[in-house]
Parts: sequence; structure tokens; C-alpha cells
Amino acid sequence: MQRSLLSLVGGMMSDPALIHKDPKDYWLSSRMAVVRPSPTAAVSDEARRLRADGRVIINLGEGELDFDTPSHVKDAGISAIQSGNTKYTAVAGTEAVKEAVARKFERENGITYGPDEIVVSAGAKQAIFNAFLATLDDGDEVIVPAPYWVSYPDMVALAGGTSIIANCGLETAFKLTPRALEAHITNRTKWVIINSPSNPTGALYSEDELAGLAAVLRRHPKAMVMSDDIYEQIVFDGMFATMASVAPDLKNRVLTVNGVSKCFSMTGWRVGYAGGPSWLISALTTLQSQSTSNASSISQEATVAALDGSLSFLNDWEDKLLARRNVVLKAIDETDGVLSADPPAAAFYVFASCAGAIGLITNDGDIIQNDLDMAAYLLKAAGVATIAGTAFGKSEYLRISYAVDDADLENACASIVAACKRLS
Ligand SMILES: Cc1ncc(COP(=O)(O)O)c(C=O)c1O
Repeated sequence: MQRSLLSLVGGMMSDPALIHKDPKDYWLSSRMAVVRPSPTAAVSDEARRLRADGRVIINLGEGELDFDTPSHVKDAGISAIQSGNTKYTAVAGTEAVKEAVARKFERENGITYGPDEIVVSAGAKQAIFNAFLATLDDGDEVIVPAPYWVSYPDMVALAGGTSIIANCGLETAFKLTPRALEAHITNRTKWVIINSPSNPTGALYSEDELAGLAAVLRRHPKAMVMSDDIYEQIVFDGMFATMASVAPDLKNRVLTVNGVSKCFSMTGWRVGYAGGPSWLISALTTLQSQSTSNASSISQEATVAALDGSLSFLNDWEDKLLARRNVVLKAIDETDGVLSADPPAAAFYVFASCAGAIGLITNDGDIIQNDLDMAAYLLKAAGVATIAGTAFGKSEYLRISYAVDDADLENACASIVAACKRLS
């Protein structure tokens, strides 16, 4: 006979050895101790909570464009539903979507991937996570240039690996240099992460900069490259480049990850994809087959329309984003050094130093001691949510996302400037 969960908890709690134990400490795996909830999601939750209390909060903490998914892409999704394409597909994606991904890689990046070298996942996040899970053993190292996207270290830890944080400063525009790579690489290095354009800094690696890193990688044949290209299309200054095309000789140890979340404003459709050597793609597909199976069949059809369709809508998006980037930079300038930032080359974030705020005192008499205090102060005093740089492995910075509508951004920036000026 099956026992109910309640009687199990009851039985457990009458066990003297467990009497003072929280049930979750007994049932949750030790794996859960190495993973933290996403700090960016935590800020959004806090903003929602304050709004529910009647506060006006503008959230500049989200990594999601406010633009609508282009209409031809939405139509393709609707047509997929109406024509009954609502069933399981092949785990790694339909032939149609894999062919569209292959065409995209060939056309836009000059990289040739065959059908067994492409996997389509539920977001780029799943492809990255599966790649770590498929390759990392205890003690294996992953070089994570900081500032980093918040999920990399937790994914590496969950997969049993060790993140080796390579601190990249303002002097290199927050980018990993060949010298820093050489200083961190060992014979335990399984992956080097290159995220360009970068979340959180908006930094963009040039072809030459990638070539410099490739030269170091050639001397370390055991290290693979995770090229996270998810912000590829949102570039203002300079040209996008990616490792597998800059260094074709390294292609068999590069995983090129991309997706439709950012550049097509399709975060909720959950489609990402990766191109890489067939042995690795096959492992990612096996993991996916035993966990989530295929990405949504409907979203896959919409992705074909996105990847094969015209990108002309991006001109308008880029104009709008560039204007917004300038609104943020102008506001930062008006804070008289409390905040400071160089113009980011790409993506939709400004990574602003708040070193000028450290030691200043708020109207309530509190001292701003670090970036977490500053983010909390802006939330309270300006009603604006930003993310403290500490979440990205770089203290004394704030990530300000300008993926929100123009009026909200103008208001948020004016409130930030006013709140900064009230510090003494
Ligand atoms: C750098 C980076 N990589 C990957 C992802 C994941 O994107 P997706 O929505 O495709 O899972 C994000 C999302 O915020 C990101 O910022």
C-alpha cells in the first residue's frame, strides 16, 4: 500500500535523529547547495512586489527587449498551430529548422554545419547547460571571464565543474585578453567562455581580438570554446565576429551557441540552437532526449520564419536602441561622477561604475558601502530597479538595461539623476 507524503513527513519527524531537521534539508539533494536563484529574476520579483504595494517601479533590470516579436514570425507560429504541427518532433529539431539554422550559420557567419552538427533546444540556456553537463567531470575547469552572464558559474557548478574567474577590467573594455587567457588556462581547462556581444557589459570582441585568443588556444589543444553569440545582431559600433569563423582550424572544438530570444524578441518562445562537432551535438541531443525532448514544435516553425526572413526590422530596432543607449549615457554624465560609463558597443546594457557613490550618504543617513547598497538605494529612492555588478562577478558596477519603452526610460533616467544628486 502507498503511504501518503504527509504520513511520510510525520514518520520522519518522529524519528529522533530527524526531529529538528527541516524537511527540505532531508529531501533536497546536495546539488541544490551549489546553485543560487538567478539574481536578475530576484530583482524582477522584488520590483513586482513593490508594485503590488502601490509603488511606481521602472525595471531596468530585465534582459528582455520590450519590442514585439516580428509579425511574420508570429504568423508562422499561428499557422503551425492551425495546421496541426503541435506534436513531438525529432529531439534535436525538425529537418526544416536545422536546415534554417545551417543556412543562417553559412550566410551570416561563414560557418558550415551539417545536420548532425546542429541541435535546437529550449533556449540557448538549455544548449549551454547541456554542453557543461555532457563534458564536465569533477575538477574540470571552465574559464569564465568576469563580468559574466549570471548563469555560467551556477551551470558549471551544477555540472560538477569549477569556474575559473578571469577578472577583466575597464582597461580592456571588460574583455579577455590573450595574456589573461594564458594566465588562467591549465591542462584541466575544458571550456573557455566567450560571450560577445556581452551581457552585462555590451562589449564586442573584434576579429583581431578573437584571433589573439585563438593563438593561445592552439597551444592548449584540450580546451574547447563556448561561443555565446546570443546578442549577435544588436551591434552599434564595430563588426560582430565569432570564433569558429575567425579560427576555422579550431572549429572542431568550438560550440557556437545562438538563438532567437534577443535578436527577434522571442524570449518566451524558448528556442536556442548550437553548432559544433557531431560527437558533442550527439551528447547534447541524448541529454535532451532524457530531459525535455524537442523544443516546442510551434516555436521551431516560427524560428524557420525568423531565420529565413528579412532582418530589415532590425534597422528600426537598432535606431531605437541607439537613441536609448544615449539617453542612459547622458543621464550618467549628469550624475557628476556618482555613476560613470563608456558607451557600450553592442547589446542593450550599460555597465556603469558606481565607484563614485561609495562612501556617500543618503537622505536617510545610510552610507552607500557597495554596489548592492547603490542598487537598493536606487530602487528605494528613485523607484528604478538595476542589477548590482556583484551578480555578474564585478563589484562597484550597476547593469542598466535600456530594453524598456522610451517614456519609462526617460523617467527612470531622470529619477536616477535626481537620486544621485541627493547623495552627499
Ligand atoms: C549571455 C546570454 N546567454 C544566453 C542567454 C539565454 O538565452 P535564451 O533565452 O535563449 O535561453 C541569455 C539570456 O539572458 C544571455 O544573456
